[in-house]
Amino acid sequence: MNEAEAASRAAELRETINRHAHLYYVLDAPEIDDAAYDALYRELQTLEEQYPHLRTPDSPTHRVGGAPLEGFTQVRHLEPMLSLANARNEEELLAWDQRNRRLLEARGLGDERLRYVVEPKIDGLAISLTYRDGVFAVGATRGNGEVGEDVTANLRTVGSIPLRLLTGDAPPVVEVRGEVYLPLAAFRRLNEQRIAAGLPAFVNPRNSAAGSIRQLDPRLAAARPLDVWCYAVGYSEGLDLRDHTSALEWLRAAGFKVNPGIVTVNGIEDVAAAARSWEERRAELDYDIDGAVVKVDAFALQRALGSVAHDPRWAIAFKFAPSTMTTRLHSIEVNVGRTGVLTPFAVLEPVFVGGVTVERATLHNEDDIRRKDIRPGDDVIVQRAGDVIPQVVGPVTTGEAEDGEGRRESREARHAALPEWSMPRSCPACGSETVRETGEVAVRCPNRSCPAQLIESIKHFVSKGAMDIEGIGDETVALLHEQGLIENVADLYGLERDHFVRLEAGRVVALPGFGGKTRRGDGGELELAEAKRADKVLAAIEQSKQRPFARVLFALGIRHVGGVTAQALVERYPSMDALLEAGAEDLAEVPGIGPVVAEAVTQFLGDEHNRETVEKLRAAGVRLVEESPARAEGPLTGSTFVLTGRLPNLTRSQAQELIEAAGGKVSSSVSRATDYVVAGEDPGSKLDKASSLGVAVIDEVELLELTGGEGEAQQDGQLSLP
Ligand code: IVH
Repeated sequence: MNEAEAASRAAELRETINRHAHLYYVLDAPEIDDAAYDALYRELQTLEEQYPHLRTPDSPTHRVGGAPLEGFTQVRHLEPMLSLANARNEEELLAWDQRNRRLLEARGLGDERLRYVVEPKIDGLAISLTYRDGVFAVGATRGNGEVGEDVTANLRTVGSIPLRLLTGDAPPVVEVRGEVYLPLAAFRRLNEQRIAAGLPAFVNPRNSAAGSIRQLDPRLAAARPLDVWCYAVGYSEGLDLRDHTSALEWLRAAGFKVNPGIVTVNGIEDVAAAARSWEERRAELDYDIDGAVVKVDAFALQRALGSVAHDPRWAIAFKFAPSTMTTRLHSIEVNVGRTGVLTPFAVLEPVFVGGVTVERATLHNEDDIRRKDIRPGDDVIVQRAGDVIPQVVGPVTTGEAEDGEGRRESREARHAALPEWSMPRSCPACGSETVRETGEVAVRCPNRSCPAQLIESIKHFVSKGAMDIEGIGDETVALLHEQGLIENVADLYGLERDHFVRLEAGRVVALPGFGGKTRRGDGGELELAEAKRADKVLAAIEQSKQRPFARVLFALGIRHVGGVTAQALVERYPSMDALLEAGAEDLAEVPGIGPVVAEAVTQFLGDEHNRETVEKLRAAGVRLVEESPARAEGPLTGSTFVLTGRLPNLTRSQAQELIEAAGGKVSSSVSRATDYVVAGEDPGSKLDKASSLGVAVIDEVELLELTGGEGEAQQDGQLSLP
């Protein structure tokens, strides 16, 4: 390929990749799979390495984040970024509408009903995105409204921000306004990781988004799955828009993510209804909203209304019930989880926050409580946002509060007089002395027979993502345990109808909730006719024996082994016996499994009690072998390949397809289980690993020979796939 051809191919790839990013991130409707996307991406990357000047600012290869910055430079916004006045309730909303109509009437623009747009008020970080001739040029934070910080490098890593506008005739300049945020699920994951790493947790998703966007190392920003909702066109040249509704339409067409729930309505009554509907939906959203923003639709009317100080008169934020409140922390109690970890939680004076009454909240761990200096008896700030589990932000040590007897006292003095809290020395469930391993934040109960741990591990075993045994919930587990019917998960498979309900001396004896009906048999004797609930539960237990091995492995509740990890383990070790034989070192070679997980698995399976449980499960007929999915049979059946570097003719996905069609398997990392490493140009560390392990290294021609596809490689390098 000569340079001119490379340039045109690179342009084509940029457009294709950016289109697929839009389909994936903005429309949530991908047309190709990850492997195909990666192949396009790699092709572009290669071209850009060869011809660095082809790496234009709109190249998707910028999305992975560039070199760290020294600091952020300042940018003056093309048009000030205003803030919003608040309406705290419906009365204030109605008053705002009346004022609008009065002011417009005075200018001869009066109307019975004004047309408004109602949007969610995203609780994230305001940003401005400037596009010059259709290309993303500058991304900035709001700053003081006039001048913000240049965070272009970080914003380029946000997949839903277009690097080039999708419209045919892009305006010379357009500034788009929006809000970046971290989706709640990602926020929770991020905090789990931070706590596990001994870092302070982010207080809320907003802070985590702000922290991420102000990262000096764009690669770190790229690792945080930030997203954006765009809600306005700021400064523009060459755009002719009449109202906000058409501005939003233009944004959508240009490739921006605009919230699909935004509505345009006539009259303030419908505004109030739309705002209430947003408040009701709040808990279901994957992002935080703290209100609804109402905007006058027509730009001519917006101009006529103008602004006071920094707030436009034509828009208002209708605030929802606050998502933080102050309340009294009565005590700190401790839960024992299935792996023995003691987790403190707050017992609070019930308080209405974020739309629900909260009386318990998480406190993460002892260090976090110390760092925030939270003491039982304090007044604390409780936060609940979206579907996030309520949490205690910290103590309030200013102002006054009532003591138990109705006297006022200073919160500061009160706080100072309260004793600090520390983790109990013994397990609240079984009394065993607790341990805290060096370097770990978690305190645990070391007793494997601790009833709390047993109950929690059985709850996990029967739960939806695990063995999914319908009819056995938390309460039933506790009940069966209390009755001495189940000690561990294997005991579930020894349960019989009699354990739930039976006839004794002519009377029905049943566990609470499991009663049955009797009838007279042929000989006139009383018998149990029906025991519906017990039979259902027993059938569900029986059915669970058919769950795939990966689910069983996950259900065992091994530390660090979630559903994805279990699947990865099973792909390499498709039976319990194979797993039992593997050492920690072998396990650590499985893609996606690190030394910590590997150690946890071998430790769990090395434990005598756990082995016993596993054997009981096997005896009961629970599946401990993965039925391999119907795989093509061929010359490569049973062989595992790893691909590295660029092959002369085949793309990565073509090579993978060839191998799989011939019955082989492609894995992402080299281990002793690898049969062949297929190496192309610029191979990575996988090649070194292969030679250190003595794994055979082959090239494309040899691969084609092995797959039996050699005859199909045509002269011009084109290949017809089987
Ligand atoms: S419009 C002139 N629309 O709220 C109008 N703002 O208090 C100014 N915000 O700094 C902004 N969602 O960060 C607008 N749908 C939305 C919004 C929104 C969130 C934030 C934005 C702004 C703040 C104003």
